[in-house]
Parts: sequence; structure tokens; C-alpha cells
Amino acid sequence: MFNIMETQVKTYRIATIPGDGIGKEVVPAGQRVLEAIAARNDAFNFEFENFDWGGDFYREHGAMMPADGLDAIRNKDAILFGSTGDPHIPDHVTLWGLRLKICQGFDQYANVRPTRILPGIDAPLKRCGPKDLDWVIVRENSEGEYSGVGGRAHQGHPIEVATDVSMMTRAGVERILRFAFRLAQSRPRKLLTVITKSNAQRHAMVMWDEIALEVSKEFPDVEWDKELVDAATARMVNRPATLDTIVATNLHADILSDLAAALAGSLGIAPTANLDPERRYPSMFEPIHGSAFDIMGKGLANPVGTFWSVVMMLEHLGETGAARQLMNAIERITADPALHTGDLGGTATTAQVTDAVCAILAAEPAAQFKAA
Ligand code: IPM
Ligand code: MG
Repeated sequence: MFNIMETQVKTYRIATIPGDGIGKEVVPAGQRVLEAIAARNDAFNFEFENFDWGGDFYREHGAMMPADGLDAIRNKDAILFGSTGDPHIPDHVTLWGLRLKICQGFDQYANVRPTRILPGIDAPLKRCGPKDLDWVIVRENSEGEYSGVGGRAHQGHPIEVATDVSMMTRAGVERILRFAFRLAQSRPRKLLTVITKSNAQRHAMVMWDEIALEVSKEFPDVEWDKELVDAATARMVNRPATLDTIVATNLHADILSDLAAALAGSLGIAPTANLDPERRYPSMFEPIHGSAFDIMGKGLANPVGTFWSVVMMLEHLGETGAARQLMNAIERITADPALHTGDLGGTATTAQVTDAVCAILAAEPAAQFKAA
């Protein structure tokens, strides 16, 4: 008789796309942390495949990624992305050729950006305590100002014309607002602020407001309000505790999320999830910071934004125990000024911060890594 315990080990297939600049440093750091997590439990592990797409690939092949690149990652369980941006290639080329190609190709329409002031982080809002700033920004990630609709004519002539049309569809607005209401409902305060600009943008944003009102009726337990995007910036600074979940269009949320990250102490910490909530395609997780060419290759990049993005990846995969363990580890290292990188005023290196997180994970009881 054999006495073999049947254990079902799950293997998550992860595509890593470091991209450009410090993406090449923080993505391997994120992979190391995932490997440290896999080593702590026998329920799941990861299988990584790396894709060298980005500026260097462009110089060699004339495109940021291969024409059939999406097919190479379509069957992955998740994508860990670094950043795009290269000083020698126009920004709209790098963005549209890689990151937006993946976001739009996989219809990752919900971009989720949590912001909190982590322990030990010196944030600029002196009048508010760390507990007063605990937000999740939901960014419409598939259309609006980033639709790519528009064009140029009469180029080089005095009558040159250019348009960028912000295109909003009822289906697109409905699905992002419904996602935001649902997310707000899942958080303790059940509070949603819908960002708008319907006073000036009198077509699409008026439709946005109408749909917000319609969708709100499906969520009677969610308290919600509307705020003009300009007024929202002042409210974020002056009355941060009045906000919890925030939903905005693609461009509005792009701007508000940089403000949010700065108010929480550093762009180097902030994470993002580009989600396909319907799970037809893999979702993509990335730090919100850019490629930071000024510090690339020096080992100085803050990997915390990537680690927090990995937390979001683990949550998306349903590995809630591991996600919680990693978030605890992140909060322990931010609490220690000796482990602050340059963006936080410290001198720690990417490798030191990564080692510290892996050491904390290695010391935690294995049972803690199981999904709840
Ligand atoms: C972000 C970034 C990008 C964006 C840049 C790199 C084009 O700022 O993810 O917020 O605007 O979407
Ligand atoms: Mg941005």
C-alpha cells in the first residue's frame, strides 16, 4: 500500500515584461519575491516567461513588440510589467507600441490604483494622519481620451490641424462605473466619488453623469457623490478623509493618480492593476512610476511599487494569504528608514530592499501563505 497524499499544486504562468529603464531592475526584483513566496508553500508555484520587448527591441526590429506578441502571452495567468519610455524614441510610440497595445488588446478596462501612506513614509500632507488617506482610484482604461481617435491634416502648413477625440461608449462607461460601485461596496466605508467635468465637457461627460446615476440604483448600500475633477484635486489635499473609492475617466484618473501617489509619499511606491474583470484575458500588474532613465542601471530604483503590484496580482489570482503576507512584509520594510531608497530620502539599493522582503517572507510560518 502506498500512502501518497494527493496534493494539487497549482502552477501560475506569469509573463514578465521589464520594458525600459528601471523596469529591467524592478521586474526581476518582483520575480524574486514571487519565487520567495512559492518557496513558502506547497499549494502553488510560478512558471515565468520573460519577454524582452521595449525600446531595445524597437531599435532592433522597428516595433516595440512582435506583431503576434499578444498571442505569446494570451494564455498566461498574469503579466508583470515594468515600464516603457526611452529617451531616444517618442513617448507616444513607446506607449502605443507596447503598454496600450496590451491593455487595449486584452480589454483590460479597469485600471485600479490603491493609495495609502505606508508605515515609515514621510508624506507631504502635514495636516492629515496616515489613516486619513486610504483611497482606491479606478481609472477607465480602454477609451475616453486615450481612444487614439483623431488625426492631423495640412501638416507643416500654417493651417495645420490636429484632433484627439475623447470617445466614450455607453457600454464602456457602464462597465467601469459598475466595477467601481462594486469595488466601493467591497470596502468598509462603501463610499464612491464619481469624478466628472460635465460643466465644460457637455456631451460625453453628461452621459457619464447620467450613467453614474443609473448604475448607482443597483447599489443602494453605496454612498456616492460627484466631484468636478479640478475641485477633486483640492479636496484630495484639503479633505483627504472624505474620499475612499474614486472613479474617473482615463485622463482624469491618470492625473489624479499621480497626485495621489505624491500625497502618499512617493511615486516609487504606487502600484497598478490593469484588469480584465471578466477574465477573458490575462490582467497586467505594474508599478505606476516610469522608466526613470536618470537612475537606470545603478540599482537604486525603489522596487516597492512593483512588490505592491505583485500583491494585487496575488489577490487577482485568489492567493489572498500570500498577498497579505507580502503586504505585511512591504509595510515592515517601509517602516525601517534604513531600507528606504533614494526617492524616499534614503540610501538603500534595489537589492537590499528585495533581500529584506525575501528574508521576512522566509521567516513567516508557511501556513500563513494559504488562501483564506
Ligand atoms: C500611467 C502613465 C502612462 C499613462 C504614461 C506612461 C503614458 O502615466 O500609467 O499613469 O498616462 O497612462
Ligand atoms: Mg500617469
